[in-house]
Amino acid sequence: MRTLDDLDVEGKRVLVRVDFNVPLDEDRHITDDARIRAALPTLRELREKGASGLVLLAHLGRPKGRDATFSLRPAAERLSELLGVEVQLAPDLDSVPDGEVVMVENVRFFGGETKNDPELAKRYAALADAYVNDAFGAAHRAHASTEGVAHLLPSAAGRLLEREVETLTGLLEDPKRPLVAVVGGAKVTDKIGVLEAFLEQADTVLIGGAMGFPFFKAQGHSVGASLCEEEGVEPASKLLGNDKLELPTDLVAGREFNADTEVRELSEVDVPDGWMGLDIGAGTAERYMAAIAAAGTVFWNGPMGAFELEPFAAGTKAVAEAMASTDATTVVGGGDSAAALAAFGLADRVDHLSTGGGASLELVEGRELPGVVALS
Ligand code: 3PG
Repeated sequence: MRTLDDLDVEGKRVLVRVDFNVPLDEDRHITDDARIRAALPTLRELREKGASGLVLLAHLGRPKGRDATFSLRPAAERLSELLGVEVQLAPDLDSVPDGEVVMVENVRFFGGETKNDPELAKRYAALADAYVNDAFGAAHRAHASTEGVAHLLPSAAGRLLEREVETLTGLLEDPKRPLVAVVGGAKVTDKIGVLEAFLEQADTVLIGGAMGFPFFKAQGHSVGASLCEEEGVEPASKLLGNDKLELPTDLVAGREFNADTEVRELSEVDVPDGWMGLDIGAGTAERYMAAIAAAGTVFWNGPMGAFELEPFAAGTKAVAEAMASTDATTVVGGGDSAAALAAFGLADRVDHLSTGGGASLELVEGRELPGVVALS
């Protein structure tokens, strides 16, 4: 993969694809600007190396055509503050001014972006002399701004993309052992590739979150009213024989999915009718914390329970705290586990907190990311 070390940017206008797909509240205020901060080293380096101007491309959400609720204005304003430079927002590709730093409106407003339309890629390429992709979180998408345009200009990976790819591919290649994977979240089918990769390469795979229920169901346990992905039961049953796989042995259950509901600790994993399992139990949390403490390397993706509800946050918090205090090398996939670490104030206590959700999982699965391949 070509990096900024291989690209001459002096005096050139550089098109930079960033991932500013940040969470916004109902007033359109950014609630977590980590992805914008993560792009700063690349943007600063390009400016220091004498780029004559930067034209930024980014997406926000999944709009169906132009829709003001998906405007990148909040991201442009936040970037202005962080970079200390005015960031102009161009509403479309025909009106991109010659500023020091210009951001084009949400690329998903343009027909053809997600279809990797070659004509759109050409219009992007016409805006600059070189292309840098630093949007790791979108590198698993073969879109016009992440893949197509990379073939039309001298191109390279930005520093964020470079570091993400190095860390996440290195994880399975030569980890300090024992390598422990902690995998949670709602759906086992979303993570089957990752589970298979870790069951092959890791020493222990710890399961949490609602994705445990298809495993329990396959073992013949009752799941009550728990969120249990039916299509996940068969794939889960195939993994059950693997002795690296560790499942929860106790749970915290609630009557309903809210913070005021009746709560019950279950000393085993059979969930009674009318109850839903919403967190791993204290015994499981202790076992998982011990495994993380004794690890050489830990990869974590996916919460252990409904951590956004206070009565069901303990399991995820235990994992987050164990990640923060272990001597092991700690790597966290983006998405909900990153949000959990941030919620517990521990985001800066792990060695690598990926900015990519889907992209980080595809990479650890060993899949090639189109946005990365295009820079090779
Ligand atoms: C993400 O938030 O995972 C990335 O920005 C990719 O967004 P997408 O799933 O809408 O392509």
